[in-house]
This record gives sequence, C-alpha cells and structure tokens, in this order.
Amino acid sequence: MKVTVVGAGNVGATCADVLASREIANEIVLLDIKEGFAEGKALDIWQTAPINLYDSKTIGSTNDYSKTANSDVVVITSGLPRKPGMSRDDLIATNAGIVKTVTENIIKHSPDAILIIVSNPLDVMTYCAYLNAKVDSKKVFGMAGILDTARYRAFIASELNVSPKDIQAILMGGHGDTMVPLPRYTTVSGIPVTELIAEDKLNEIIERAKFGGGEMVKLLGTSAWYAPGAAAAQMVEAIVRDQKRIFPVCAWLNGEYGMKDIYLGVPVVLGKNGIEKIIELQLNDEEKALLQESADAVKSVMEVLDNMTANA
Ligand code: LAC
Repeated sequence: MKVTVVGAGNVGATCADVLASREIANEIVLLDIKEGFAEGKALDIWQTAPINLYDSKTIGSTNDYSKTANSDVVVITSGLPRKPGMSRDDLIATNAGIVKTVTENIIKHSPDAILIIVSNPLDVMTYCAYLNAKVDSKKVFGMAGILDTARYRAFIASELNVSPKDIQAILMGGHGDTMVPLPRYTTVSGIPVTELIAEDKLNEIIERAKFGGGEMVKLLGTSAWYAPGAAAAQMVEAIVRDQKRIFPVCAWLNGEYGMKDIYLGVPVVLGKNGIEKIIELQLNDEEKALLQESADAVKSVMEVLDNMTANA
C-alpha cells in the first residue's frame, strides 16, 4: 500500500511517523512545497527504522507530485495553522487556494486515491477538496471527529482516573466550537458515563472538549499535532487494512439526518472503499437541535467558499 501525506509540517510529519512506525503502509511519500523540508523529515523517519524496527519506506518530495503517483490513500494537511486569537474559519481564504491546488495535483497522479483532509477550517476544506477532486464523496472525507472524541475521552479518563482505552464515545457536527459530544452515547467499558460522572462535571468536560483545539493553540502558540497526526493515521489504517471501523468522520451528507449537500461530522464505517456506510443515530430533540446549529455554522462557511469560487 502506498500512502502520501501532503504537508510536512507538524501534523503531516507526525502522521507519516505513525504510519511508518506502525507499518500501516509499506511506502509513504511526504510532500511539501518548502525546499528540502519533506525530504529531511522523511529521511529522519527512515533513519529511525533501524532503531524502532520497522521497514516502511518513507521518502520526501519538494512539490514533485510524480513521486505520489498511484497512492492508495492521500492525507492532505497543507495550509496555515491557527495562531492564538484566530478561529479555524479565519484560515479559509489562504487554505482554500492551497487545498485546491494540492487536490488537483494529487488526483492527476492518483485518480483512484481516497483523500483524507486535515486542513482547517476542516469541514469546509473537505468540501473544497471534494469540489476539486470531482470523485465520489465516499472517497473524500475529513479528519476531525477522532481528534475531538479523543480529547473528550482523555478528559473523561483523567476525571475518573481510568484507562483512556476504556472510554468509548461518539461526537457529531462540525470541527469547531459547535461540535456535539453525545453523553448518551458515551460509555466506560459499557457503563453509561452518566452513571459515573455528575451532570455538571460532564458538562464542563463537554465544554472543554468543544474548545479543545483552542486550548492547545493557547498553550503552544500554534495548533496541536500529536493527536491530530495519530488520528489521521488511524483513519488510514482502517482503510488500508479494510477494518470496517466505526469513527466520527466529516462526510458528505445526502439526506442522512435530514441534511443534504453539506460536509458534517457523523459516525461512519471506514474500510477499503472509504466511507462504506453512514450510521444514522436515533437522536433526541435536544441532540438534533445541537446538530442543526452546528450544521448551520458549517453551512455559512461553505457559502463563503462558494462565493469565493464564484468570484474567482
Ligand atoms: C485542532 C486543530 C488541528 O483541533 O484543528 O487541534
């Protein structure tokens, strides 16, 4: 299996490192526009192979897309990250142009590839890639839900002083402050979380998870990378190993949840064909209202992109 990661910054390089060290793909191409940068990161990962004992071959490329030819999966992390005080939506003008160019180049060399978008604002950049890839929406989707649920699950594990391995959760909506963690679908080894954490404490955890990306930007001065990179790699793994895993993924809706023509975080089954199924939860009225609010927020930024494209 051949996997390309576009963007050798913190998130892209971390993703490539996880893909290599866990032997998720035997051929990994890291591409960046900055001269020599992807080559350097890829060489560093390759030189770790004899120490950590893996044989995934990792190579770098400065903007030479011929090296990415015939990739099975491509992870797109290109674009600027947030600085303190910025919302993810502030990045749209710059990152839309970058994601468009990257997508066109990727599809030219790997017309059958499955694309995983990581660039922000996530939901709208996934839409941007879909518009430019002109392939089935089952093959173009975004990474956000795994990261957002990972934050939520980590906070629950800390609160209960139990292993993060034992926290299962699902979360829906956009990758922004309107995301919708779902306590009714959160368990600790099968025990409903509501039996273990009081409502007000759980609400605090939900609020912290919703602003989890911003918390990292404040601490680091830029966005996070370990969890985002690992989350994207986990999606790649589900695809290349045809695992049929259920994850929250930013997917194109075509009537599911009563919504159409929008990219939004929903639970899906991920396997070798990309999104093999969108799972429709039986949401209650309150959850439906929160999801609608999140969809409205994403839709308004999608319209900004549509207007930019129309005026381009
Ligand atoms: C975050 C960025 C990657 O949530 O969107 O950390």
